[in-house]
Amino acid sequence: MSTDNILYEVKDRLAVMTVNRPGKLNALDSRTVKEILQTAGQAAADDSVGALIITGAGDKAFVAGADISELARQTLVEGQATSDRGQAAFSALENMDKPVIAAINGFALGGGLELALACHLRVAAANAVMGLPELGLGIIPGYGGTQRLARLVGRGHALEMILTARKVKADEAARMGLVNRVVPEGEALAGAREMAGKILAQGPLAVAFALRAVRHGLEMSLAAGQAYEASLFGMVSATDDMREGMTAFLEKRKPDFTGR
Ligand code: COA
Repeated sequence: MSTDNILYEVKDRLAVMTVNRPGKLNALDSRTVKEILQTAGQAAADDSVGALIITGAGDKAFVAGADISELARQTLVEGQATSDRGQAAFSALENMDKPVIAAINGFALGGGLELALACHLRVAAANAVMGLPELGLGIIPGYGGTQRLARLVGRGHALEMILTARKVKADEAARMGLVNRVVPEGEALAGAREMAGKILAQGPLAVAFALRAVRHGLEMSLAAGQAYEASLFGMVSATDDMREGMTAFLEKRKPDFTGR
């Protein structure tokens, strides 16, 4: 179900969430952050959804950041609550057992880049521009950006982007591992759909287990992560999907997974 600032539709197991404030370059006010959390919960709970794409309305911006007119009025206590709520919404996306793909169709700045960073995969249009300009506003990234950017592209690239507020275009973002794929201008959503289609053809339980293995494993030592991987491998070996995947290979046909 769509809400005031989020358009949401599901078709053929693929959900698309569109941040819809094009007049403000899809800037995230507190209502929109709340609606992202609500929509993430909806997608996570819906068994008919196998993957989620997030994009921005219009052809100019994915999301141009947190809404500066709202942030400008905040006190210390309100600022912390804003950060907590943004982090909770974005963590809900990151913690989903279904792949979440950002289709970056233009500016992804501040909270917009942090939203994209919370997604599992990122497809950027060639004209996309990414950056964390917060320090120039006298604040720091507060929706997970200082944590996720450094984990994704390494401390050096992350600190340069954060401390100098330098924006990067899609090609450079791809070179540093910030985005997975660059597609022509206007094709971010199509590129994300294509990527989602490939994932939706895999065993759905295996997709969920792989997401869990990587997500939790990154918080563990290598030994603990491998032990966790082995236990998930054991569990996945007891599924109908595993039997179907292997039988289909041996019978030289496409698998028909049921997610059981
Ligand atoms: N918060 C609130 N409003 C925003 C916004 C934000 N983060 N980003 C853009 N907007 C609004 C503008 O105020 C403007 O509204 P108006 O028409 O009512 O004045 C509208 O969106 C269009 O933006 P505009 O700045 O006129 O477009 P532009 O093409 O000249 O510049 C950007 C585009 C992205 C470079 C510029 O909007 C910008 O720098 N935005 C802020 C980015 C930022 O610092 N984000 C981090 C926030 S923590």
